[in-house]
Order: sequence, then structure tokens, then C-alpha cells
Amino acid sequence: MSPPRTPRLAPDRPGSRRNDPALYDALVDHWWRRDGEFAALHWLAEARGALVPPPPRGGAVLLDAGCGGGLLAPHLPAGYHHVGVDLSAPSLALAAREGVAAVRGDVTALPLADACADVVVAGEILEHVDDLEATVAELARVLRPGGTLALDTINATWWSRFSLVTVGERLPGGPPRHCHDPALFVPPERLQALFTRRGIPLEFQGLRFSVPDYLRFLMRRRRSVRMLPIRSLAAVYQGIGRKRT
Ligand SMILES: C[S@@+](CC[C@H](N)C(=O)[O-])C[C@H]1O[C@@H](n2cnc3c(N)ncnc32)[C@H](O)[C@@H]1O
Repeated sequence: MSPPRTPRLAPDRPGSRRNDPALYDALVDHWWRRDGEFAALHWLAEARGALVPPPPRGGAVLLDAGCGGGLLAPHLPAGYHHVGVDLSAPSLALAAREGVAAVRGDVTALPLADACADVVVAGEILEHVDDLEATVAELARVLRPGGTLALDTINATWWSRFSLVTVGERLPGGPPRHCHDPALFVPPERLQALFTRRGIPLEFQGLRFSVPDYLRFLMRRRRSVRMLPIRSLAAVYQGIGRKRT
């Protein structure tokens, strides 16, 4: 059986330059295709959802910063008011269909009140922003004291450039072509310093995909690929922290 086919962007299409926000509008039909350009985001959303604690109270607010098409929604514990902020209006429309309260906005200047969120999630967004420091400041500002921050992003290493850009962008299920600008990849030491300064010390773990699952995905015998925890933070990694009270 042939591997899943994922149409790639032509050179003159939006997304032909690296980290072009227009990519997400252009590929909007791919958000919910398990074999589409955003396949790996489904796998990561499942792993991210496992970091989120049960809602601490009725009506607890979870901010999903850079929510895209709302892929996190099915992986959250029940009971959250799931608010998603993103630049891409077509993606937000899909997120709204998943029950996300969709807000158009920029994560470097969130249109939300201080301490409004019980949980802040930043999944595969920090490696896309021009101003990491402003983004961290905003995520910390909207998280209430005692609240939980959960994130996943990509380290700035030769291995992440090779495995996720040089090779990964050419593999079925890998990131869309030109999706990442390696210059924006995020060293965990930098994130730790920025979040700790804002009262949110972090713990990290690395992630890698399950090779048997990926082979079955290629053979169309599995729709999803499990992301497994590893010690190495050299490529994709998760962070979790609690804001000091
Ligand atoms: C790699 S996708 C991740 C989407 C989602 N978190 C997920 O994991 O499925 C990055 C998302 O961030 C959004 N984005 C990029 N820069 C942004 C910014 N400055 N403010 C808000 N959203 C942004 C894009 O539109 C896109 O939906």
C-alpha cells in the first residue's frame, strides 16, 4: 500500500517563505485531515492534552494560545471553558466548530484580561513568534496565580533542524514545507529563564514519535502516532509549570 499523500505547497503559494502566517489560511482544509499537512499536530495535541490537569473549579478557563483549528479540543479533560486565540480567521472558524471560544488576536499582545485563565497552553506556537519575550510575558500575565502552564515547542539544535526541517518537511506526516524558521527555534534554557522571571518555573521532557506507530501510519494501518516521553530535549519538548501564588 502506498504511503499517505500530502500535497505540498507550490513555490509561489502562501507559505513559500519560512514561517509565513498565511500558510495556515492556505492549508485550512488540512487541519482535521489525519493524513494531511498537519498530521503531526494531531499526535502532539494528544500528548499535550495529557499534561492538562482536571479543571480546578466549575467554569475554569483554559487559554489555548495559537489554537489553530482547535486540535487540542478532543484531548482536554471535560469541563473547561476552552478559549483559543490565533491570527488565522479561517482556522479559528474550525476551532469554533469544536466548541472553542475563538478570539482573533496576536499572542504577543493577547486581547485578554490579567489572570483570567486557570490554565494556559502554548502548543507549537513559541517557535513561530518574532518576539518570544513578549509572548512569554503575555502568557504569564493572563495566567492566574496557582494556575498551570503547559507548552510544547522545538529546541534550537542542529538535530531539530535536520530531523524536523531538512528531513521532516519531506516526510509524510511531517510539518508542512517551510512551516518553520529554524532561527526562531527555542532553547529550553531560554524559556526557563523567561518563565521563571515571571514566576513560572518549568519542568521539561523531550518527545519522540513511536517508530512502529509511524510505520503503521505510513501503511495506513493507524490514524495516529503516539508521542513518547524521552530525556533528550534536542528536538520537540514539553514544558509544564505552576505560577507562584
Ligand atoms: C503550528 S500551528 C499550531 C496550532 C495548534 N496550537 C496545534 O498545535 O494544533 C501554529 C499556529 O499559531 C498561529 N500563530 C502564529 N503566530 C501567531 C501569533 N503571533 N499570534 C497568534 N497566533 C499565531 C498560526 O496561525 C497557527 O494556527
